[in-house]
This record gives sequence, structure tokens and C-alpha cells, in this order.
Amino acid sequence: MKGSDMKTTLFMATSINGYVAGVNDDTDWVKDTEELYDFVAEKGVCVMGKRTYEDCMKYNVFPYKNALNIVITHDKSLIDKSTKDIIFTDGSIDQISKIASDRGLNEIIVMGGGNINSYFLKNNAIDEIVIDIHPIVLSGGIRLFEDVFPNTTLELVESKLILEGIVQNRYKVIK
Ligand SMILES: NC(=O)c1ccc[n+]([C@@H]2O[C@H](COP(=O)([O-])OP(=O)(O)OC[C@H]3O[C@@H](n4cnc5c(N)ncnc54)[C@H](OP(=O)(O)O)[C@@H]3O)[C@@H](O)[C@H]2O)c1
Repeated sequence: MKGSDMKTTLFMATSINGYVAGVNDDTDWVKDTEELYDFVAEKGVCVMGKRTYEDCMKYNVFPYKNALNIVITHDKSLIDKSTKDIIFTDGSIDQISKIASDRGLNEIIVMGGGNINSYFLKNNAIDEIVIDIHPIVLSGGIRLFEDVFPNTTLELVESKLILEGIVQNRYKVIK
């Protein structure tokens, strides 16, 4: 469980049937928006799983600029490579929140993938969900939430068309 003064937003792009990556981790259909980069820089902390980190490396978008980048992994060789602004950790959500709060940062953006999203959801550690729904149906791949997670009620806060048929929905998690 994270500290109650930490606000956590999950920010993801999905197909209309709820996939964040297609078969073989295909994300070529995802249109990155400048908003995401600005949002990360504004909030100051982004958290992702090791597989998402590897994907970001492939697309040369890691580390996210002007932010503390935190990668959740069991990989000791990566953990040993942590720097001041790029942290690889197998720590709990509480420990991750503390890393942020120790730097005076009180908002975290969770950036996937499906495995890490459900890790946060099942620990009741997501306050807000922003989903960019792309105009595509995918036949398989990685879902927004993978593994085990609880039924969760949301309140739609805002819905808007942002770019080339992409609808962005912003939800508050009802706790
Ligand atoms: N559409 C989008 O907006 C979007 C955004 C992000 C990602 N994606 C896509 O999602 C896919 C990746 O999602 P994914 O669900 O497969 O993987 P993921 O959530 O990115 O990473 C999962 C990995 O994180 C590590 N991990 C998970 N829980 C942990 C814990 N409690 N402690 C320590 N390490 C932990 C494990 O790696 P180790 O055991 O190896 O350390 C695990 O295999 C990629 O295709 C990516 O491109 C899409």
C-alpha cells in the first residue's frame, strides 16, 4: 500500500478491446502524444515494469526526460546499475512511493505494462486512470491488466477526442 499523500495515475494507450500491445509486443499502432512526455515531466516520476523498460529502450524513449524513472524488476544486474535519476528496484509500492516523496515528489505516473498495472491495482495504489483508446481491434497480446486484479469501480471524469480518432478517457478510481 502506498502512502495516502501520494497520487498515482495510470496512463496507457489501448486498443478498443483493451490491449496495450498486440501479438509479439506490437505497439506500432500506438501514437505517442507530446502530452505524455509533458505529463511525465510535470509530475516528475514515472514507474514501469522491466518489459516496458526494454520496449522503451528499443524505441529510444528511455529515460523519460526531466523525471525520475523507476523500473520494477527482479534483475540484480539492472538494480546494480541504478543512478540518481534512473532507479531499478524490486522494492514494494510503499518503498517506491518513499523514493519519490524523499525528493519532495507527490505524484507518480504508472506506465505499464499489464503486469505492473495489475500489481498497482491489486494493492489499491491507483487513484486515477487515463486511457488513450486507439481506433483498432487487436487479435491478442498484452491486456491493460494482466494476472490477478480486483473488480474496480471508476468514475468518468473527462472524455475527449485528442488526435486522429483517439479518445482519451480520464477516470477516478472509487475506493
Ligand atoms: N500501450 C501502452 O501504453 C503501453 C505502455 C506500456 C507498455 N506497453 C507494452 O506492454 C508490454 C509489457 O507488459 P508486460 O505486462 O508484459 O510487462 P511489464 O509489466 O512491463 O513488466 C513485467 C516485468 O516486471 C518485473 N516485475 C513485475 N512485478 C514485479 C515485482 N513485484 N517486483 C519486481 N519485479 C517485478 C518482472 O520482470 P523480471 O522478473 O524480469 O525482473 C516482470 O516480468 C510491452 O509490449 C509494452 O510495449 C504498452
